[in-house]
Amino acid sequence: MAEKYGWVPEGVDITVPDASRVYDYALGGVHNFAVDRDFWHRAEAAFPGAGLAARTNRAFLGRAVRWLAERGVRQFLDIGSGIPTLGNVHEAAQDANPDARVMYVDIDPIAVQQSRSLLAGNPYAQVIEGDLRDPESILYHPDVLGLLDFSEPVAVLTVAVLHFIPDSADPAGILKRLGDALVSGSYLVMSHAGPEVTPEARANQERVRKLYERTPTPVIIRDPAELTALIGDFEIVEPGVVSATYWHPDPDEEEATPVPAALVAVARKR
Ligand SMILES: C[S@@+](CC[C@H](N)C(=O)[O-])C[C@H]1O[C@@H](n2cnc3c(N)ncnc32)[C@H](O)[C@@H]1O
Repeated sequence: MAEKYGWVPEGVDITVPDASRVYDYALGGVHNFAVDRDFWHRAEAAFPGAGLAARTNRAFLGRAVRWLAERGVRQFLDIGSGIPTLGNVHEAAQDANPDARVMYVDIDPIAVQQSRSLLAGNPYAQVIEGDLRDPESILYHPDVLGLLDFSEPVAVLTVAVLHFIPDSADPAGILKRLGDALVSGSYLVMSHAGPEVTPEARANQERVRKLYERTPTPVIIRDPAELTALIGDFEIVEPGVVSATYWHPDPDEEEATPVPAALVAVARKR
């Protein structure tokens, strides 16, 4: 089936929904298939807040990168970076510092291929295929070592990806191994599916969680205490582990609708 689409890499199964393509569709992208769109429509029908959560998450990513760039961070390792869409990390980072380095990493070959074609001709932004569950294969990848200088601060972004890592894969251990490779003054940026607040929204969210159980990447919902534990020794910056809506909102934007389901945190290595 994939041979019908010139841009789909060999071996990609387009008969089951995929997290990166579903999210691409949720954000208005075009690198998705009927199975992904159908999945998203069912998710939105079950949980009408799903679209807002996706957009709020993406807006947080841009604000966090700008916030870090303003504090002098010039290197970004974005793991679970997704299919390029509106407001990509290298655009925000290189707007602030034209020589900012960005390494994208994703497990999905389509996300990697689309990123590679977008980044052609950009010497300071690259992409590799990699798995967050194997952090050393990312940290010691020759392209990563060629682009990023780990004797200087690096911001590691795990945005809307850790909720695909079950406890059995030791997400705290994964973050610790990534954090151990960084110098003081480096950052960890995280966003994660968090529990809805009202009983009705929680029931809706549970329906979506059940839908994701049928995909290769089931979603694990974690609360602020669990996220704080994942972050370990890093110092969580203000305003703490909060809904993305409340993380340094742009002052000139209209007050955004709160989204409990999109929990975020930014933490600094001491
Ligand atoms: C919801 S998208 C988030 C994209 C982007 N970080 C954002 O928040 O806008 C999640 C991405 O994580 C990727 N992903 C899932 N599991 C992964 C893993 N174990 N290692 C690397 N990437 C993974 C998926 O392929 C997908 O592109």
